[in-house]
Amino acid sequence: MDAQDIILKKRDGLELSGEEIDFLVKGIVDGSIPDYQTSAWAMAVFFRGMSEKETNRLALTMAYSGDVIDLSAIKGYKVDKHSSGGVGDKTTLVVVPLAAAAGVPVAKMSGRGLGHTGGTIDKFESIPGFQVERSYRQLVEQVNKFGAAVIAQTGNLVPADKKLYAIRDVTATIDSIPLIAASIMSKKIAAGAQGIVLDVKVGNGAFMKDPGQAAELAQTMMRIGCGAGKRVVAILTDMNQPLGHMVGNALEVREAIDLLGGGGPDDLRQLCTCLTAHMLQMAGVRSGYDQGAELVQELLQSGAGLAKFKQMVAAQGGELDYEPPGYGLPRAVIEAEVPAERSGYVVSIDTERVGRTAMRLGAGREKIGDTIDPAVGVEVIKKRGDLVKAGEVLARIYANDQARLESACQAIRDCYQLDGSPPEEQPLILQTFA
Ligand code: URA
Repeated sequence: MDAQDIILKKRDGLELSGEEIDFLVKGIVDGSIPDYQTSAWAMAVFFRGMSEKETNRLALTMAYSGDVIDLSAIKGYKVDKHSSGGVGDKTTLVVVPLAAAAGVPVAKMSGRGLGHTGGTIDKFESIPGFQVERSYRQLVEQVNKFGAAVIAQTGNLVPADKKLYAIRDVTATIDSIPLIAASIMSKKIAAGAQGIVLDVKVGNGAFMKDPGQAAELAQTMMRIGCGAGKRVVAILTDMNQPLGHMVGNALEVREAIDLLGGGGPDDLRQLCTCLTAHMLQMAGVRSGYDQGAELVQELLQSGAGLAKFKQMVAAQGGELDYEPPGYGLPRAVIEAEVPAERSGYVVSIDTERVGRTAMRLGAGREKIGDTIDPAVGVEVIKKRGDLVKAGEVLARIYANDQARLESACQAIRDCYQLDGSPPEEQPLILQTFA
């Protein structure tokens, strides 16, 4: 067997055998297949797609390409959640403590941001002292004691995805349904939870721009998960504007704490409630979705979710003073407002560009290894459907560098499209696959 024949076969639209997929994954991991051949194969998949059988095999072979975490030492039904990537998506910071406060243990492994979408680990690392590198023993101990932990992926979890994702990121082959599905589900399978709630984003800030494609991605991931013996629920959610208002690491932590304290923006509360309610139902803590959603509201009102967040942060070495509005998080030295140049309704926000602008301010990485500035980002004050008067503030920029601030102000102004009539209302939660 050789890589060239496998590339040729895929280029010509033929189905690869299980053995060919195993050969490819092994070669990607051990380096015997060079990056240029992996890139060519990824591009062939991008154009030719993969059958259900091929996609399932790719996901499973990738999942077992490194360590597979055994969470059986943690008591209770373990549920994980995953987002396919969006802008301002800080749901993990809210959902994990809420689920834990309801009695569902969550041992979550998250990733760092790359490109326009943020990464949960970068958000947690903006909390002074917060440790994301934990051993398996520490993870199990913490979850058994407090019910929740969020740590960075361990060194050898799905090494095939680490390599393949980095290659896809620079070869324009990210937005391929079988490759995204195999990438996400291999990590979920290797991370060991019994149940998985998937948040599949769709819109101009997501990898999937089209609802039909997003639905196909959701169903593909469900098939992979169910085939691996997991319970899976997938929710299609709107990403045609940032979630909540804050985009940037410490800013997003701030907004998550606001929400856990009973405040925060409505859209973020709605999505966190939905994701947590599905997790509670899956774990059998509540018999139905509505009962789960009711419990989430109680946990937000009583402060039980915030208390769990504080326990988790302290257990991982994080230090916050929880004094509003800053909570002891890093703050940027410069703040600037972006005013509207004309009056009108906000009819669209270029969400991917908002994410890229935050990244260029220093909130994300343009390439692997770039350092993150935890304090910087964008506060998206006006959202879709809002009526704005000329001169009113659309957004606020938080920066630590004057030159970056100026280009961010211009970019954010350009992200907004205003019009004389309001846009059609669009629900946040579009579809549920269970
Ligand atoms: N998130 C992942 O983990 N992988 C992808 O391919 C896309 C989003």
